[in-house]
Amino acid sequence: MIKVAICGAAGRMGSLIAQNVLSEDDMTLVAAFDVKDVGKSIGDVRISDVKQIHDVLAETKPDVLVDFTVASGAVENAKAAAERGVNIVIGTTGFTPEQYEEMRSVIDKKVTAVISPNFAVGVNVFWKLIGDAAKYLGDVDVEIVEAHHKHKKDAPSGTAKRAAEIVRTSLGKEVSVHSIRSGDIVGDHLVLFAGDGERMEIKHQAHSRQAFASGVIKAIRWIASAEKGIFSMNDVLGL
Ligand SMILES: NC(=O)c1ccc[n+]([C@@H]2O[C@H](COP(=O)([O-])OP(=O)(O)OC[C@H]3O[C@@H](n4cnc5c(N)ncnc54)[C@H](O)[C@@H]3O)[C@@H](O)[C@H]2O)c1
Repeated sequence: MIKVAICGAAGRMGSLIAQNVLSEDDMTLVAAFDVKDVGKSIGDVRISDVKQIHDVLAETKPDVLVDFTVASGAVENAKAAAERGVNIVIGTTGFTPEQYEEMRSVIDKKVTAVISPNFAVGVNVFWKLIGDAAKYLGDVDVEIVEAHHKHKKDAPSGTAKRAAEIVRTSLGKEVSVHSIRSGDIVGDHLVLFAGDGERMEIKHQAHSRQAFASGVIKAIRWIASAEKGIFSMNDVLGL
């Protein structure tokens, strides 16, 4: 049995991942953390105040901590997990470069971590296709458009930033990213390559958060047999 703890368990993603873990035969939910809804039950587990994370991790000894919270919280939660030798799956986005480096340095070589701004299998294939398209299309204009629900805190999305980085690395030029925050859009990403007399679009649309949760379940299972270090969904999916 893989023992799982979840940070952000009262949130949109954390609560869905908790339900997914509860329905898997080879996983068990041993701890849940949040800053709100403390004491609320998820299966047999009650949500603990994240201030208690050190004590609860020591008591429940999870194999993996999953974090879908906010950037500042994720850095602290990753520190707590790494100190206790608990592997980590991080889906939180919106890190400043300094926060990201701090998180990497606390994790490095202590535990195994999978960090990805998008756990959907389709998005990871989308990133790969963008890299190939940029390589073959060469000197074209590239625009990235992303749309998410109005509650999303960071903009541009971590997925769009990664797409921009892929194109920048391939074409050696800056790319414009346009963000839309509206209604209950789960997550749309479009990359437009426009040249002389033709254009091409590569698009991914998430219909439901289950796309991300299914990828998280794959990462939890993969991490159990991985070496120490920091990995991405490319490693989990063998892309
Ligand atoms: N990587 C992916 O595939 C993916 C997919 C969807 C969302 N996200 C990202 O995941 C994060 C959460 O998204 P959401 O839509 O579930 O947001 P949400 O606001 O619904 O949930 C976040 C939860 O974290 C809690 N929280 C805040 N600070 C905390 C802390 N220090 N410790 C523990 N819990 C804390 C909040 O109270 C809330 O319940 C965002 O950064 C979002 O961009 C990533």
